[in-house]
Amino acid sequence: MGLKEDRRLSRNPRGLPGQTEIAEGLALSLSSVLSSQTGHSLIMWFYLVTLVSLYHLLRWYRERKVVSHLQDKYVFITGCDSGFGNLLARQLDRRGMRVLAACLTEEGAEQLRSKTSDRLETVILDVTKTESIVAATQWVKKRVGDKGLWGLVNNAGVVQPFAYLEWYRPEDYMPIFQVNLIGVTQVTLSMLFLVKKARGRIVNVSSVLGRVALFGGFYSSSKYGIEAFSDVLRREIKDFGVKVSIIEPGSFSTRMTDPELSIERTKKAWDAAPEHVKESYGQQFFDNFCSTTKRELMRCSTNLSLVTDCMEHALTSAHPRTRYLAGWDARFIFLPLSYLPTSLVDYLFAIFRGKPAQAA
Ligand SMILES: NC(=O)c1ccc[n+]([C@@H]2O[C@H](COP(=O)([O-])OP(=O)(O)OC[C@H]3O[C@@H](n4cnc5c(N)ncnc54)[C@H](OP(=O)(O)O)[C@@H]3O)[C@@H](O)[C@H]2O)c1
Repeated sequence: MGLKEDRRLSRNPRGLPGQTEIAEGLALSLSSVLSSQTGHSLIMWFYLVTLVSLYHLLRWYRERKVVSHLQDKYVFITGCDSGFGNLLARQLDRRGMRVLAACLTEEGAEQLRSKTSDRLETVILDVTKTESIVAATQWVKKRVGDKGLWGLVNNAGVVQPFAYLEWYRPEDYMPIFQVNLIGVTQVTLSMLFLVKKARGRIVNVSSVLGRVALFGGFYSSSKYGIEAFSDVLRREIKDFGVKVSIIEPGSFSTRMTDPELSIERTKKAWDAAPEHVKESYGQQFFDNFCSTTKRELMRCSTNLSLVTDCMEHALTSAHPRTRYLAGWDARFIFLPLSYLPTSLVDYLFAIFRGKPAQAA
């Protein structure tokens, strides 16, 4: 039997459409709706991609503009003995800027001077000591004179030991707040009048852990503090022409993240923890924590310039960003995590962490 006859037979006696015709009609209208929907969503995606590309192109073009007279601009950087601070000092020196590098030790200062031009000057600064900050401020004031201080980079920081909150003693976690948070606020407030004079920049080094509090509780708390301090400062100081940027690096291989040193410090904290705390977590849990931490630290990026390029941009671009994420893990792990619901992040964390010996 042919298709036409099939259709004819499917009509009911009163000439109304049969089931097959209804189904065909529905399929036809559905496919036309679908194809028009596909067409609409394609157009929507086209507009979206074009708009996002245009936004990035315009932003790139705007941010390319560099401030003038870099050679006359003074930048003060804390924590220049090693890591990001040390690399940034050398980078800005090569660019012809006047770098005032603060080191914690004379040895660190000497090493830095041996690798840079005569333009770069060093001073010893311990950001946990008020008298050291006052002396450094006077030292900077003398050098910058009427020009003021163009850039203040609060880079000095400490992280160790990597541990669970309960394993810390006050003498382990107090320095984390003293260096990373109190030190930054004191240095900033002490030198702010010089930065205001130059209508300059303040660059505060936070961390991806200032965005998502996953581990490293006290470190993370100190970096959340930096984020809040920087946000308030930026809003208050804007009218004076001062711009505040926050740098949020992912994991990078520096002295701070040295795997051997870190595990040594973690073991010290564990050994000193009260017996009841150690029993509740158990030796197996601690050993797993150490091996996971060591493995993660060994994966840290060695390309520190990803971070110092952000710092340099914040100091030299006519239009610096408020926040800079540095490193692939910062962009593709921590940024998305920061937008997930807290309950989901808690769940993911619980999967990776494993259970302590006396877990409920
Ligand atoms: N490495 C990372 O993965 C990572 C990720 C996110 C954020 N950060 C942040 O980046 C910044 C720089 O760290 P880094 O990775 O370059 O580590 P780093 O190599 O250990 O540099 C930290 C610097 O701070 C100095 N410092 C320590 N205590 C100080 C104090 N009381 N006063 C003045 N200076 C002091 C250190 O001096 P000594 O070396 O002499 O102790 C060192 O020069 C820190 O704020 C850190 O929190 C690092």
